[in-house]
Parts: sequence; C-alpha cells; structure tokens
Amino acid sequence: MTTLNTNARIAVIGAGAMGAGIAQVAAQAGHTVLLLDNRPGAAAQAIEGIDRQLGKRVAKGKLSAQEHSSTVARLQAVEKIQALADCALVIEAIVENLQAKRDLFRQLESICSEQCILASNTSSLSITSIAAQLIHPQRVLGLHFFNPAPVMALVEIVSGLASDPALAECLYHTARAWGKKPVHTRSTPGFIVNRVARPFYAESLRLLQEGCADCPTLDALMRDAGGFAMGAFELTDLIGHDVNYAVTCSVFEAYYGDTRFLPSLIQKELVDAARLGRKSGQGFYSYAEGAERPQAATLISEQRVTACVVEGDLGIAAGLIARLHEQQIEIIQRDGRGLLRVGDAVLALSDGRMACQRARDEGLRNLILLDLACDYGTASRLAISYAAGIEPLALAQGVALLQQAGLQVSQLSDSPALAVLRTVAMLANEAADALLQGVASAADIDLAMRAGVNYPLGPLAWADAIGLDHILATLENLHASYGEERYRPSLLLRRRVAEGRTFHD
Ligand code: NAI
Repeated sequence: MTTLNTNARIAVIGAGAMGAGIAQVAAQAGHTVLLLDNRPGAAAQAIEGIDRQLGKRVAKGKLSAQEHSSTVARLQAVEKIQALADCALVIEAIVENLQAKRDLFRQLESICSEQCILASNTSSLSITSIAAQLIHPQRVLGLHFFNPAPVMALVEIVSGLASDPALAECLYHTARAWGKKPVHTRSTPGFIVNRVARPFYAESLRLLQEGCADCPTLDALMRDAGGFAMGAFELTDLIGHDVNYAVTCSVFEAYYGDTRFLPSLIQKELVDAARLGRKSGQGFYSYAEGAERPQAATLISEQRVTACVVEGDLGIAAGLIARLHEQQIEIIQRDGRGLLRVGDAVLALSDGRMACQRARDEGLRNLILLDLACDYGTASRLAISYAAGIEPLALAQGVALLQQAGLQVSQLSDSPALAVLRTVAMLANEAADALLQGVASAADIDLAMRAGVNYPLGPLAWADAIGLDHILATLENLHASYGEERYRPSLLLRRRVAEGRTFHD
C-alpha cells in the first residue's frame, strides 16, 4: 500500500479550524470524509463553513461549480464515533491535550479495523506518547498540517518510536496525491518547522531587547534584505503572541531548558499585558483604526561617490558590484581580503565580530560592516553597523555608495553579526542540529521551511550558498561575543567545514 486511493473513506475528528481545513483538503482530493466533533452540531456547521468558502472561490472563478458541489457532497457530518468503523484513515484534530488524545485513540482502536491508520495533527505533543499503551502503536503517526490547511502546502509526516515506516510512506504519498508537499520527520519536540523556526523570532527579539534597532527597522531588514515575507514582529503580531510564546515555551521545556530556545521577556510582557497582536488590536504595532505603521529608520547621505576599490573577492556580496557598475561607479579591482573601499571608508561583510572588535583586530580605520542580503543583486535595503568614533565623512561616503547602488541603508548598533546574518546563521545552525540528530533529511528540512513558513531559501541550502566556513566563523564570533551556549556551532557544521563538504553533498 503506497497511496490511499480515493475509494478509501477518511475521518477527521475535531471540526475546528484545522479539522475543517483538513476535511476540505481530503474531500477536494476525492475522498468521502466523515467529520466528527464532540460539540453537537459543530461538524455540520464546519461543513456549512466549507460550503460558503468554496462558494466564494466559485464566485471569483477560482473553482468550478461542479467541483464545489461534488466536494461538499463528499463531506458528511457524523455524531457518533461508531460511524468511523470502515474508515481507512482517521485524522485527529481535537484539543491539544495528551490525555484527551490518548483516550480518543484508545476508543478508536476498539472501533476501527486493524488496517486503519490513526493520525494526529498535533503540533507539540509526542506521537510516541500518544501511541503508547495502544494495542497497535505502529499504526499511529503524525500528519501535521499548517494553518490554513487548504492553503499551506506543507504536511509533516511524523513517525513515533513504534510507527510503521510503510504507513509513513503511505501517508507521504497520500498527502502528495492531495496536492501537498509532505516531509518525513521523527517525533521530536517541534518536529521540523516549529523547532528550526525558533531563531527567526528569537534573534529579532534579542536585538530589540539590546536596543540594536526598533521593530519597523528590524522587520524591514528581514523583508527587504533577508527576503522573508514578514519580519518577526509583524509576523508574531499576526500569529498572536499567546500562540507564538506558548510554542516557544513548549519547545524550550521539551528540550530541558536548552538556552537556544529561551523565550523572550519582551514577548512575555506583551502576553501579560494582553497585547496579543492583530487579534487584540495591539501587539508590537497598533491595529487601532487609523493607526499608522511606524517607518523603518533609513540613513541619508548627501555625499556622491564616483569610484570605489574592490579588494579581493566579496564572496556572496559580489552582487553589489554589478549594481555599482550599472550606476557608472568606477570599480578598481585589487588583490586583498574581500573589502570595499570608498573615500576614507572600508566596507566588509560581517563575519560575526562587532565592528569595534574587527576594526581593532585587523587595524581597519572607518570600518563599516554590511549585513547579509538574500540576494545582493536585488535587495532594496541593507543594514550596516560601525564602531563609535567613525569619521563622519567616511560614514557619509560609505552610505552614499550603498545608496547609489539603490539600497536603503539602516544602521544597527554595533552588534555581533547584525540582523539578517545572525538570523540566517542561527536558522542554519538549528537545521544542522536537526539533521545531525536524524530528525529529517537535509532536503526535507529545507522544503519544510520553504513550504511551511515561506522562507526564501531552505536554511541549509542558504548556508551552503553563503559558505559553511563563513557561517561557522559567524557563529564562533557570536559565541565568543556573548559567551553563551545558545550560539555554539553545531557539531555537524564543524564537521562539514572540516571535510570541505556542504550540507547537501
Ligand atoms: P480548535 O479549538 O479550533 O478545534 C478543536 C475542535 O475539537 C473543537 O471543535 C472541539 O469541539 C473539538 N474537540 C475537542 N475535544 C474533542 C473530542 N474529544 N472529540 C471530538 N471533538 C473534540 O483547535 P484547532 O486550532 O483546530 O487545533 C486542533 C489540533 O490541531 C490541535 O492538536 C492543534 O495543536 C493542532 N494544530 C493547530 C494549528 C493551528 O494553527 N490552529 C496548526 C497545526 C496543528
């Protein structure tokens, strides 16, 4: 059995946001879907909701009337669990409570056939734990959809200790047949996405806490330089701080308080104040009527430059050179160690050291550090930092060069690894640990982060493109600056650098 064919009846238990979405996905794929909820009438209401949603899609010309009516006809609300007896797959999407899920699965074992696959949509509970004490724990797996299930492509297929690999394969192919992008993962806290994504929030929160920049500036950098769809503050405002903070706390506790996952006091304070984000009208930003979104801070230089010197290879930042060339800026190439000189300023891609440290270590006067951009050829904004004492003219010349290349320039305080580089290095580090620990393959980790949270690149492929030695140096410098375990480089990253390999070799 590699794929459940459309004759297989599917049951979804729990007709809330997730259950209704999953039922819709399975019905649209051609299955008869039984929807059950312990709140009387909830399943029927959920089907009416799906009917209305699909009706809107028909009105917009995005779905045929025929597909709408046949999908709705395949959905059946049931009130009794005994009605699920002949289902081939039951997907549980009830309340996130271990005991409730265990009780439900135990009941299902006495009703469904031995061949029936029992899946849970849990995002934080252990599949191993849910399956323990069942007669056939091998048929229990996680089938973790993302919200909203009909829209989000990713499905994590989660195997517990006892899960049958053949059934994991079957769910993988079935999810594919449903138009989803499945990935395999082991039942470890946060699975792939909710674990690997933690630094995305944590590093921005930390920079905010350290007064490195304000929310709109950090958000703009993540979008306009990092290529992320949203920055951490606008995204957590959208997710809801109660939800995002609860996930962080659950992952932190599940990893026995590993400081890599340390929750942020700033976010806790928002939760304490009931500033939950969009849904409460206030989070990092105000959503009150007429409230204006504060703008990112942008440096403006009145200087104009006509030439610059490129010393050596700028590596991943080389895309800047073409932009400067297009603006008729004369580029003088010399040998060297990857520096860009303009007037009295020296520009260099950050390697994780603070500007003050690197200027001292390398004897560089008027050093301006550049943050990472996902694509230096197309980014519209870039962060810089510099040490106190930089000469104003040199700063103005450095900013002018970037401005003339078409970049908006945001200044961060002199912090190790700036904003985007620090975030990407930490995402890659977490992904490397997940890979080392056999949570998922490199390809599945990268796919999960692209399809589950819309990252522009998978963190492992991104690290490969930047150069693993650069990522390692960045983390080592972060680690040295903070002296915290949180920034220690993954063993796998060190190993790959020593072997001269990438993550995808
Ligand atoms: P929800 O609160 O919107 O819906 C849960 C539904 O389950 C309710 O309609 C409730 O009446 C019903 N229910 C509770 N206990 C039941 C039982 N014993 N038998 C039958 N029905 C029962 O919750 P939501 O957000 O849909 O989440 C459901 C599951 O999906 C949880 O495990 C959650 O962690 C997981 N999940 C949630 C995501 C989200 O963004 N909301 C994303 C991915 C997974």
